[in-house]
Amino acid sequence: MITLRPATLNDLELVEYWETKQHVIDCDPDDDWNWEEELRRNPAWREQLVAELDGEPIGFLQIIDPFLEETHYWGDVEPSKRAIDIWLGEENNLNKGYGTRIMELAIERCFQDPAVDGILIDPLKSNVKAHRFYKRLGFEFIEERIFEETVCFVFELRRKTVKAFLR
Ligand SMILES: CC(C)(COP(=O)(O)OP(=O)(O)OC[C@H]1O[C@@H](n2cnc3c(N)ncnc32)[C@H](O)[C@@H]1OP(=O)(O)O)[C@@H](O)C(=O)NCCC(=O)NCCS
Repeated sequence: MITLRPATLNDLELVEYWETKQHVIDCDPDDDWNWEEELRRNPAWREQLVAELDGEPIGFLQIIDPFLEETHYWGDVEPSKRAIDIWLGEENNLNKGYGTRIMELAIERCFQDPAVDGILIDPLKSNVKAHRFYKRLGFEFIEERIFEETVCFVFELRRKTVKAFLR
């Protein structure tokens, strides 16, 4: 069974190790997550979560409110959104359906807040495997956009799409 729990400073070694993995580097080559500092704080606009498979950590998930996020990474964005980052730590856990289940839990978590009407994702333009993954979950392509000098595709999952999925 896959579950989500808050990431803490006890996860520092783990997330730093996952960050050395090639498939993780490939999806986020330029970002510095500043783990030691960030795992110590819990700003209201962010959740950093560890995904566990039968109690064993397998992946990392971050959910932010892009309107309130401090650096305004997303620029002008409505207050009714969430934005997600996700990766699995070990390459031998890829392609087993775990990511899909983690995203289902994340999507449910985001839309539990009735004020949220869409979830944003910004994979690299080159991460075509991730594009397929998100489209299968119902995310729709919005635009190509440059974030901090990196070319990305923005996708959004709208609440009404999820409802249609469930019908
Ligand atoms: C994206 C990711 C979370 C999906 O989880 P997963 O458990 O591998 O995915 P599932 O088994 O549920 O679904 C398989 C799909 O995941 C995607 N996927 C698989 N390996 C991937 C990889 N190395 N990078 C990106 N996407 C990948 C593909 O779309 C695949 O479907 P396909 O058969 O059409 O190729 C996981 O592959 C991962 O951590 N990838 C590397 C980091 C990354 O790209 N994160 C997204 C950044 S926006």
